[in-house]
Order: sequence, then structure tokens, then C-alpha cells
Amino acid sequence: MAAYETLRWRGDAATGVLQLLDQTLLPEQRQEIDCRSVQQVWEAIRVLRVRGAPAIGVSAAYGVVLATQGLRGEALESFRAGLRQACEYLAGSRPTAVNLFWALNRMQQCGDCWSGDSTAELHEQLLLEAVRIDDEDRRMCLAIGQHGAELLQTGMNVLTHCNAGGLATAGDGTALAVIFAAARAGKRLHVFADETRPLLQGARLTAWELQQRGIPVTVICDNMAGQVMREGRVDMVITGADRIAANGDAANKIGTYSVAVLAKHHGIPFCVAAPSSTFDLSLADGSGIPIEERQAEEVTCGFGRRTVPEGVAVYNPAFDVTPAGLITALITERGVVRSPNRDSVVEHLGGG
Ligand code: MRU
Repeated sequence: MAAYETLRWRGDAATGVLQLLDQTLLPEQRQEIDCRSVQQVWEAIRVLRVRGAPAIGVSAAYGVVLATQGLRGEALESFRAGLRQACEYLAGSRPTAVNLFWALNRMQQCGDCWSGDSTAELHEQLLLEAVRIDDEDRRMCLAIGQHGAELLQTGMNVLTHCNAGGLATAGDGTALAVIFAAARAGKRLHVFADETRPLLQGARLTAWELQQRGIPVTVICDNMAGQVMREGRVDMVITGADRIAANGDAANKIGTYSVAVLAKHHGIPFCVAAPSSTFDLSLADGSGIPIEERQAEEVTCGFGRRTVPEGVAVYNPAFDVTPAGLITALITERGVVRSPNRDSVVEHLGGG
């Protein structure tokens, strides 16, 4: 079990708060913050105090509970208007991870389906729905871990990109859940963590989590992955995802696509671990996935000092899309889909 909690609701519906581990401060400082307003949740998502597709969705669900705390006792119509406004507001925090929209949709539906009159009771229901989303995420992480662990044998070296661990979910993570489950089953593994420029989620967060759990980890700069693969030191790549289209194309942290191309070239299996809440079956393929573009300063001043001359143009897409053809297997809470394509993805998600 993790000795850290990424997010947790503390208190009752009327006065509770969302507690988050502030990931912008890791690994140097381990500090929790209390979000008491929807604006604080929006800001925490936007600046990556909480990040990772599933954790963003769960936090947003609790953000809706915070947003509607002041509306208990209002007429149903104005409560519902506030709920809708909160969902629209939170939907603008980040564009790529579909878990955000999935969770907000669940919260909206909970409000829409309410047939009582008491808005205080409806508000209690919203907290229950957020807790359900949270609990489901924890369970999905465990199941992903169990299915994925069967693909790993003792002695393997796994390369991962960004952070798809407990810090990115309410539970044990997705890609890292596979590693944690294999380790619990007694398999000895070693992980290469790509540093993951510009915000260093691999170096700061993945390395921290693995160290916390006693799993051997080596950090490499992103541009070293090819060399490490060529040296024969990587047996499998496992990453998470932010949005997976119906044909299996998967968006994940910028640089994932390059790793997938390298893995293909070196004949290394490339696996993507994600819960069903990360799939967007409304998109036929990855070309429709919105890619977040972030501020130039993340590239120009990433290390607390200027590393790019003033006035030079910068492009900073936060995600890229790995085509399904480069993906050996998708690992979800329902099992493993090998060589994913539209038919197998739709059947996997529909059949269950
Ligand atoms: O910008 P981030 O840190 O939110 O990006 C996170 C990732 O790309 C993760 O790999 C992805 O969300 C999967 S998390 C289980």
C-alpha cells in the first residue's frame, strides 16, 4: 500500500474539503492542500497540483460538490443551474484527459436524474456520486494491476514515461499499478523512468513513488531511451493514457509517441494501461483528440533559470497520440486487448 494519499474528501457534504497532495512541490516537499472552493480545484488541476487523467476526473467530481455547497436550500432550478455552471467551469481546466469530462458528465447526470425536492438531499447525492467515482477508480487500478502483472516476469526491465502511478489516480495508478501488482506477486523488476520534459513527471513523481514502494528505478533523460533500448536493457514499455479513441489510438504525455516508435524499432512490446473511463468511443481515431498546449515558460524556465534566449519561439504541446498500430496491448480493468483495433476495443468495452 502507498504511504501517501493523492486526494481525499474530508468531512461531510455541507462543509467538507478536498485534500490534495500538491504535486508541484514533489519530490522536495510533501505538502497537502485543502481545496475549499471550486476555483481552488480548477486552479489545482490547471497548474498540475493534481494531475494524471483519472485523478483529474475524481478531483473535478469533488470540485462539483464544493461548488454546490452554498446552494443547499436553494430552489431546485437554481441548484441545477449552479451545478451546470460548475461542470462547464471545471471542463475548461484542461482539455485532453477525457476522464475529466466523463466524471463531470456523471455528476451532471446525478443532478438531472434527481426526482426529489430537497436540494440539500440532492447535494448529499452528489457527494455519494463523487465517492463512487473515487472508489471505482481505486478498484479499476487494482484490476488493471492484476491483469497487467501477468505480462511481466521476474527479472524484467520496464520503461515508463511520465507518471501513471498512484499520484495520477485515486488508487494505485495504471502503468505503475501493473508494476506494483507484479512486485506484490514476488516478481523482481527494475524500472527505467523517462525524465519527461518539460515538467519532469517521470523524474519527480514516478521515481519518487517507486522509491517510496521500494522498487528499483533508474531515471534517464528522455533522449536516452533509444540508447538504453539499443543496449538491450528494456524488456517492455508500459505507459498510461489520457484519452483512447475507438480504434485504440492513445493520447498520453508528450514524448510517448517517440518511445512507441523506438520500441517498435527495437522489437520491444509497448503496452498502454488505462481504465475504461479513459476511452472516448465518440472519436473514431486519435486525430480528433484535443492536444493541450501549455505556456512557453515551462520550456524556457523549467529549471528555475532561463534556458532559452529571450524572444525565441517555443512550441509546447503537452500530449501526443500513439497510433494503435504501435501498441502491443491495452491493459484495462477488464483484461488485456492485444493488437488493439476498432473491433477489439469496442468488443472489450461493450462486453462487460
Ligand atoms: O500532464 P499530466 O501530468 O496530467 O499528464 C499525465 C499523463 O500523461 C499520464 O500518463 C496519464 O494521465 C495517465 S495517468 C494514469
